[in-house]
Amino acid sequence: MSNQMKQKNLHAIIILSLIATVSITLANNFTNDTRIPSPTEITTYNKTASEEAFTKMMKVLTHKRCVNCHPAGNRPLQGEDSHIHNFNVLRGPDDHGVAALKCKSCHQEQNNDFSGVPGAPEWALAPLKMAWEGLNRVEIARSMMNPENNGGRTLEETVKHLTEHKLVLWAWEPGIDAAGNPREKPPVSKEEYIKAVKEWAAAGAIIPEK
Ligand code: HEC
Ligand code: HEC
Repeated sequence: MSNQMKQKNLHAIIILSLIATVSITLANNFTNDTRIPSPTEITTYNKTASEEAFTKMMKVLTHKRCVNCHPAGNRPLQGEDSHIHNFNVLRGPDDHGVAALKCKSCHQEQNNDFSGVPGAPEWALAPLKMAWEGLNRVEIARSMMNPENNGGRTLEETVKHLTEHKLVLWAWEPGIDAAGNPREKPPVSKEEYIKAVKEWAAAGAIIPEK
């Protein structure tokens, strides 16, 4: 082979590899254009869905039907204005009241619509570690997910409590108060709330920054 021929071959190889590079780049761009979501896009999608579910769920958890029983002090709260419980009712050593005045002396397993005393099985104050009064939605969620505060619950157990426990579900059957007025229900329906809790958990139980 002459030197000139070698040179031509070399040129041809360079041109061919250039064409190859350009076509690979084009092919890659084409793949992007077929809208297969990139990993970042998948994260963004989940984040939006999870944040929407979180917002719905937390509209319930921050409602007074929950917070009245998750107070920061040693006395339950009552009513739409979350005033301190009447009759000097106290938390007591086990969150079930003091010996002379147990929660169960008045609160039965069901609402009493004659006296206006609300009721559900295991009626008691949430322990101080589970106090939500005065916390914002992010702080409540963090406390709920922290095994040191939540009674050592796993995510699965927390979801079960949130979607099945009688004291939680009572919030949608809150009965009438002592004056005969219906208690306000949380602003999200029970079905929507349960769905939101499960969706948020399935998307990784991510707590947003605010
Ligand atoms: C009558 C009082 C009462 C009401 C009303 C109530 N809770 Fe509770 N809650 C408790 C008690 C008592 C515990 C502790 C039970 C246990 O650890 O087994 C608790 C524990 C919890 C826990 C587990 C602990 C944690 O921090 O993760 C969650 C979650 C919870 N409640 C959610 C709610 C939600 C949501 C509502 C309203 C829809 C609600 N509760 C309404 C009394 C109440
Ligand atoms: C002497 C009777 C009595 C005792 C004891 C008692 N309660 Fe009550 N409780 C009531 C009555 C009556 C109401 C309803 C007041 C109203 O809404 O008009 C009430 C309402 C409540 C509410 C308000 C629910 C809401 O969202 O408005 C909570 C929470 C509560 N009690 C928790 C407790 C806890 C926890 C204990 C035990 C530590 C307890 N109570 C002990 C009589 C009692």
